[in-house]
Amino acid sequence: MSGLVHILAIESSCDETSAAVCRDGIILSNIIAGQDVHEKYGGVVPELASRAHMQNIIPVVDQAVSRSGISLKDIDAVAFTQAPGLIGCLLVGSGVAKSIALALDKPIISVHHMQAHVLANLIPDQKPSFPFLCLTVSGGHTQIVRCDGPLDLTVLGETIDDAAGEAFDKSAKLLGLPYPGGPLIDRHAQNGDPSRFHFPEPQVPGLDFSFSGVKTSILYFLRDQLKDNPDFIHQHLNDICASIQQTIITILLKKLKKASLETGIHEVCLAGGVAANKGLRSSLQEWGRKMHWKTYVPDLEYCTDNAAMIAITGYHKYQAGVFTDLSVSATARAGW
Ligand code: KG4
Ligand code: ZN
Repeated sequence: MSGLVHILAIESSCDETSAAVCRDGIILSNIIAGQDVHEKYGGVVPELASRAHMQNIIPVVDQAVSRSGISLKDIDAVAFTQAPGLIGCLLVGSGVAKSIALALDKPIISVHHMQAHVLANLIPDQKPSFPFLCLTVSGGHTQIVRCDGPLDLTVLGETIDDAAGEAFDKSAKLLGLPYPGGPLIDRHAQNGDPSRFHFPEPQVPGLDFSFSGVKTSILYFLRDQLKDNPDFIHQHLNDICASIQQTIITILLKKLKKASLETGIHEVCLAGGVAANKGLRSSLQEWGRKMHWKTYVPDLEYCTDNAAMIAITGYHKYQAGVFTDLSVSATARAGW
């Protein structure tokens, strides 16, 4: 095995317990255990998430290693999500990563979750060339990132309030859909008319985003409609979902277009859980044709939280000799 670099990676920042192994930047395994326990609470409950990580993490790591076809002794370094995320959840992953590294006498590599989402675009054979722009849209973040190299990332714009994923999930909640509602809005939108209802787009300067106004306008719109027709949501669910989705997508892609025009960059990627949205994926291609972009979207399993993206980031840090020591601790909030 000498000459090849094997990274074991662990991700536990929110409600997915995941472990992955990569060899020279090629993903050999990526195991993800979700947590259904939060569904009845309408959102992730941090304490329950930490407990579920504790139950899942060892079997998930075991499975990732056995699925990869290598053995633990072949691992060259252990990468883990250090920030940002729910602190109790991050502590489970970082504790296990440090223990494995210590037992194997191998270095550890700390990874920023949002950087890793961007670098998920380096997993497929068809990779963007540098510099590229990445629209990272998840449950906690919405960012436009300029990427000049695997470890040379600059945030050009971000949300000043809710993230795009929150806009999906909170809208879904207003419609009475269970958590997380983003995928359900996506599903209903496929059979709806996106031009049926109109919600105002926020006016935010520069490359920053805002979604709290959209949520409020949906709230007032539904309240008014329900006054006249208590069955309004049920009767028009597909059209409402399609219209909400269209509004969010337009806000996102207008800023991406602005970023491309300002930077002159035409390599354009998506990342994060909301990048799983079918409407966003197809709209990116449509806008890309008009704007002469080359567009890239990671496979679905690399869009939502996963350890493969931590492994690929860990691999690039390994190549650059960027390691951490065992004293590093997980951090809930962290810029980069
Ligand atoms: O990246 P991610 O898995 O976790 C965070 O780091 O936040 O993103 C989760 C978010 C949730 O808000 C979820 O509703 C949203 O991604 N999401 C979607 C879709 N799949 C996941 N939103 C819209 N359409 C989807 N298909
Ligand atoms: Zn994420």
